[in-house]
Amino acid sequence: MKIALIGFGTVGQGLVEILRDKAEQLADYRFEVVAVATQRRGTLYHPDGLDIPDLLKSMELGGLSYYPDGIGLNRDWDVTTIIRQCNADVIVECTHTNLTNAQPALDFCRVALASGKHVVLANKGPIALAYAELKESARRAGLLLRFEATVMAGTPSLRLAMNALEGCTITQARGILNGTTNYILTQMEGGMDYAAALDEAQRLGYAEADPTADVGGWDAASKALILAAALFEQKLTVEQMSVEGITNITAADVQAAAAAGERWRLIATVTPQGASVRPLRLPITHPLAGVSGATNAVTYTTDLLGDVTLVGAGAGRQQTGFGLLSDLLEIARVKFPY
Ligand code: HSE
Repeated sequence: MKIALIGFGTVGQGLVEILRDKAEQLADYRFEVVAVATQRRGTLYHPDGLDIPDLLKSMELGGLSYYPDGIGLNRDWDVTTIIRQCNADVIVECTHTNLTNAQPALDFCRVALASGKHVVLANKGPIALAYAELKESARRAGLLLRFEATVMAGTPSLRLAMNALEGCTITQARGILNGTTNYILTQMEGGMDYAAALDEAQRLGYAEADPTADVGGWDAASKALILAAALFEQKLTVEQMSVEGITNITAADVQAAAAAGERWRLIATVTPQGASVRPLRLPITHPLAGVSGATNAVTYTTDLLGDVTLVGAGAGRQQTGFGLLSDLLEIARVKFPY
């Protein structure tokens, strides 16, 4: 299965590191990275596949221009031309999330589907803002659109709700959907100050390119929109949601909660009627109060099983890279059985 990566930052590199490290385990799938396209650090296309160690090395050196020359290597196509004309079976969209209009990723997805390519995203924008349109385009073209990495990184929150729980009626999804803020709150409980905890979350690759999206609650809101669209077919917009982040929570608030046997957590709630994100003070015995660091959790309330809770990684290079891999594996199993 041939793959083109659009965006090659933390998450894209996380995916190819897994492809490198698990080459033997994944050999039957014969994954090949044929193209990598970045907005500012060059593009590469080779119809017979690019060398993964060389790709990673070139990024360490500063960009794809450091990738060694070779016969058949194309460095000249822009991102859209690569998506339209390369020989990839799947486009992996992992550019930065834009929650205002989802661009340019939304157009990249449209071009990919219009040119017969399956789409896998880590980028939340296109799914949060235009899921119904993309899903319909994919359906009409007989293509798969997958986005496990957009909610709780590689922890299979969407696969659980959409596949494993199929047949149940889900009436609510509720949980901690942002790794950065949960990491900051946990570090503040340990005495670290807010700015140092945010710096650390950025250094560890949890935060968005602009961490305002994390601390303002917008990243969790985008995941709530994705759950609303995917689980409840709801075309919610962020303007219809009540969203509050953690920027107003002070060290004193965290200490006061601790003294009362409570913890602050940023909680997203999604129902067929709407969605919200807000910090809540939870008793220490509450299951979500025990979720620490960049770990996330979601509880699906269902008719047949009652509450089903999933706890796992919510952010990170390898963790989100795995989310992409899990979708590629599903597409490979469905469309390219070996
Ligand atoms: N910035 C996001 C978070 C990354 O902290 O959860 C995963 O979507």
